[in-house]
Amino acid sequence: MHGPTRHDDIESILYTEEQIAARVNELGAQIAADYADAIERGEEVVLVGLLKGSVMFMADLSRAVKIPVRMDYMAVSSYGNGVKSSGMVRVLKDLSDDIAGCHVLIVEDIIDSGLTLKYIQKNLLSRGPRSVEIVSLLRKDISDQADIACRYLGFVCPDEFLVGYGLDYAERYRNLAEVCVLKPEVYASLL
Ligand code: IMP
Ligand code: MG
Repeated sequence: MHGPTRHDDIESILYTEEQIAARVNELGAQIAADYADAIERGEEVVLVGLLKGSVMFMADLSRAVKIPVRMDYMAVSSYGNGVKSSGMVRVLKDLSDDIAGCHVLIVEDIIDSGLTLKYIQKNLLSRGPRSVEIVSLLRKDISDQADIACRYLGFVCPDEFLVGYGLDYAERYRNLAEVCVLKPEVYASLL
């Protein structure tokens, strides 16, 4: 873990590769069971990954969900290079395909203020899907979070700035295999 370069910025490992893999497999099994009847009826299930943070989670979860699904992606921006959500959500890349009549499962990396998901959920609901649910790997344990019904959740995590397994700080650390706590002094100047 502690390589010679950037890993000096890491305070600690919060979730190991093994812990993440075990939880993702559980979520996958739960999702597959919940959507089995829909698949049986010939209805389509679409995983909508939110770029770029959910890329690792999407890749692993989609393989743990042993039912046929479509995969699509949306990119939105709410943070810029900072660490606090602005509440302003900009769509940088829309879905490639129509989701009307489909069961949509939004795949998110982490819920912090919840403002991003509030926006996306409303946006996707306006397109006539059969259902819209949320799966998030992480949810920060904070009091002033938007009221988001997250049906599938990996871990409730402490209110720290996390990186790795897709999560970035200023586009760095996404390729760490673990979810890690970033040293506060790395981003303190931007708070
Ligand atoms: P929210 O709108 O405040 O819920 O922010 C959600 C988005 O902010 C997530 O999709 C992440 O991309 C990013 N984010 C929130 N907390 C963290 C963190 O601790 N590390 C890295 N990215 C985060
Ligand atoms: Mg994100």
